[in-house]
Amino acid sequence: MPVHEARIPGFHKHSLTERHRILSENTSIPIDEITRALHGGGIDPETADKIVENVVGTYALPFGLALNFLINGTPYIVPMVVEEPSVIAAASNAARIVREGGGFSATVDPSIMACQIQTYDVPNIPIAVERVLAAKRMLLEHAAKSVEPLVALGGGPTDLEVRVLAADMIVVHVYTDCLDAMGANTVNTIAEALGPEIARLTEGRLGLRILSNLCDRRLVRARCRIPAAAVAVSGQEQQTVDGIVNASRFAELDPYRAATHNKGIMNGIDPVVIATGNDWRAVEAGAHAYAARSGHYAPLAVWRKTQTDEGTMLEGSLEMPLSLGIVGGTLRVHPAARLALKIMDISTAGQLAQVAACAGLASNLAALRALATEGIQRGHMSLHARSVALQAGAIDDEVQQVANRISEDRLITVEHAQTVLQELRKPSSS
Ligand code: MEV
Repeated sequence: MPVHEARIPGFHKHSLTERHRILSENTSIPIDEITRALHGGGIDPETADKIVENVVGTYALPFGLALNFLINGTPYIVPMVVEEPSVIAAASNAARIVREGGGFSATVDPSIMACQIQTYDVPNIPIAVERVLAAKRMLLEHAAKSVEPLVALGGGPTDLEVRVLAADMIVVHVYTDCLDAMGANTVNTIAEALGPEIARLTEGRLGLRILSNLCDRRLVRARCRIPAAAVAVSGQEQQTVDGIVNASRFAELDPYRAATHNKGIMNGIDPVVIATGNDWRAVEAGAHAYAARSGHYAPLAVWRKTQTDEGTMLEGSLEMPLSLGIVGGTLRVHPAARLALKIMDISTAGQLAQVAACAGLASNLAALRALATEGIQRGHMSLHARSVALQAGAIDDEVQQVANRISEDRLITVEHAQTVLQELRKPSSS
């Protein structure tokens, strides 16, 4: 269990070294382990050279901590790896607001992944379907043999389904509980093991054998219920709640808006996926395919107003597929990814999916709350100003001072930041 409450007031005001110390105190992770894991962006070029091909270096991104998360009654400090200013601050702020309504609740399906085995030029589709279904038990046993270590841990193939895609084409789905793994390698192994048998049974030609990233039996759901007073901007309770609900309706009605709405959700999810060494392309592919599953691209999270004995509430709910692992893959070689899991005290892949989903719902709330009231640019630009100050060469305390000045002057450019920095560095004449 974490020793912290995930609330570290004023965390952003400390130096980087101080933040390592505070993180260590709050998580009981030794400070030198934190410092070592994060040094140089987590991996050295020699390790990188063993992960992918033709390596010439590494490419680091900021590793920050989103605070204030309370999920199913447990506090979480949430590591986020992201280049966009304001994402971490916005998620932390939304999580603080959600906490006033008791925090997030989340549920997750077992880690079921599907592989697809395609056959085509099938001479007789009804007979082919019948044969595959009749052989289901034998096929599942064969599949289990190909992934014995997983079966020994309690996972493995659970179900098989046949889908007819065209007059000559069949696809067989084999569903597998991948436990704490993302599962791509596991289900790809099964697909290749069963392929020839499926081709024989269907008398067709063997096509593709690969996982599906639309893992709709591996859904995660996150919810929150917030008192209107907690979410209100400038004390405007009804206007803020109505604004967010109408922003949700906008996304439900319009795919153009839904795409941006979902981008705001992925602003919270992808940084957790990346911080933990997971495959964000797989997550993105699954998320958007799920959003479009009805034939109409829709938002992954919606917001509603409800009336209760305690007054007006804003309720948010998110549902989406999320295939995340906490074993194997990048985690084996990336100390910063392992550190991210340790900071959250994650012990199952499902738990990680729940945290990522709540980060997504928090980011969505933060974006809609700003968009429905004062607009996104005010908060965004003041954080953007910090990055401009850095680009202009500001260091330490200068960063905030330069950022404040260029924000006040409403001229957030590198040139202006350089001018302000020069003024700041001039020795005082007194
Ligand atoms: C920017 O990264 C994300 C937003 O566009 C999301 C949204 O519009 O809901 C602000």
